Amino acid sequence: MECKREPSDGPTPGEVEIASTRKPLIAANWKMYKTPVEACAYAETFLPLVAGHTRDEIAICPPFLALEPLEKSVRGSGIFIGAQDMHSEKEGAFTGEISAPMLKSIGVSHVILGHSERRHYNYESDWDVNRKLHAAIRQQVTPIVCIGEVQEEREEGRTNDVLLRQIKIGLEGIKPDEAATIVIAYEPIWAIGSGQSASPEIADETHAFIRSAVRERLGNSVADGMRILYGGSVKPETTAALLSKDEIDGALVGGASLDPESFAKIVKY
Ligand code: PGA
Repeated sequence: MECKREPSDGPTPGEVEIASTRKPLIAANWKMYKTPVEACAYAETFLPLVAGHTRDEIAICPPFLALEPLEKSVRGSGIFIGAQDMHSEKEGAFTGEISAPMLKSIGVSHVILGHSERRHYNYESDWDVNRKLHAAIRQQVTPIVCIGEVQEEREEGRTNDVLLRQIKIGLEGIKPDEAATIVIAYEPIWAIGSGQSASPEIADETHAFIRSAVRERLGNSVADGMRILYGGSVKPETTAALLSKDEIDGALVGGASLDPESFAKIVKY
């Protein structure tokens, strides 16, 4: 996967030159929905609806079992396939796990890391996410790292502290020249599956904070090139307003991506 690159003023010494334009990424997170057969039926409806659409990068992240059949169904369409998680080791005695090389071997290019449901139900820590991020970079799978606060943290004014901790530990040990493919998805947990998206203004402001935190750690080129997606109750009707914001470089879509017509509308916001 390559983002559109445009010439910039040039990196400051010691910095790696990274994209100055950010191609929007619209990613579908199907969670634990759809069998392989249902995934292929989805592709049949979805592909004609988005044929020739090159403005945005589109990725679909189905459950593990549907990855390979879906990859075959969309091959040649320009649509990317992503996993919803992976293990940080290449192989080993890790019952029930799937590694980055295994994903790559069937044409998977993206992976969602640290989704709040995995942090909550599977007790994934910021350090787990960090290990997986290093593995994704090593194995050249595009990581979509999810961060976000719960309702209570926002109400108590702790949003930025929570995000900062997730960014600091999540990106620990990542060097600027390794960061080009990293995508961050800001998903306020109170907005996920609630039908209540963050307002474009709140999302934009929070994305700007995230970018400034990335800038502090990894420098201007990385921060300017990094795509920061918004996720949490994105719907066809709300996408344009969200994506019109300077700091919002795409969307991670759960519920509304399960219907091919609805997801196509989001892609073509
Ligand atoms: P939602 O889920 O769009 O259903 O709120 C988003 C996500 O969990 O990634």
